[in-house]
Amino acid sequence: MTNRRPFVAANWKMNGNLASIRPLLADILAGVQTGMNAEVVICPPYIYIDEIALRLDNTTIGLGAQNVSHHDSGAHTGEVAIGMLQDYNTGYVIIGHSERRMLYGETDGIVAEKFKKVVDSGLKPILCVGETLEQREADETEEVIARQLDTVIDNAGVKSFAKAVIAYEPVWAIGTGRTATPDQAQEVHAFIRLRLARHDEEIADLLRIVYGGSVKADNANELFTMADIDGGLIGGASLIAEDFLSICQAAI
Ligand code: 13P
Repeated sequence: MTNRRPFVAANWKMNGNLASIRPLLADILAGVQTGMNAEVVICPPYIYIDEIALRLDNTTIGLGAQNVSHHDSGAHTGEVAIGMLQDYNTGYVIIGHSERRMLYGETDGIVAEKFKKVVDSGLKPILCVGETLEQREADETEEVIARQLDTVIDNAGVKSFAKAVIAYEPVWAIGTGRTATPDQAQEVHAFIRLRLARHDEEIADLLRIVYGGSVKADNANELFTMADIDGGLIGGASLIAEDFLSICQAAI
């Protein structure tokens, strides 16, 4: 198996304000500077991108956005274009988070367009896939994940996964405190890698597939030791510096 560098990203979602994110980031920075094996990325709310970009300059932590428009510019009130992200040294963009798919009507097709836009611009997508509880209970997990992946592969091509990260985030585990067991997560991660390998074995082997959904300081270790789990996409626990740093430390 290829030695893939672990990847841990903080998805702060729509949380915090300047008064809370400044000390949070300072504490995370202080902890990460002591040395981490994992690549660490912070995805703040858009309005703080400028502030965080400045503070991350010349550090080992990368910057990510939580979303991007699939349009280049124009009459799209409230949206942010990929060219704007390029102004701020943004390395990564989360694409297709289940909250975007479910609350903001992003279809597999829109997610695929966004993925392609990110790759074409030279940024790196963190593509989220995952099934709902209903789908898992109906034994549709693999079918759902396959459809979410295939739409992107068909649209952007398998080579576009060379710099991407995939996040497996079962919807029923997000913000619920109900984590997938390491075996449950590993099974889906292996399925994702295999799906990519059908098109390109080398890309599949190098691809980092991270898990998201109630990852905490006390369960990160057992998840990250699984063969196909290469790190995590962290929501709630990334808002507490100590917890987030323990999770980063667990990714070795
Ligand atoms: P939680 O870690 O809060 O469950 O959120 C996971 C997530 O959605 C990260 O993108």
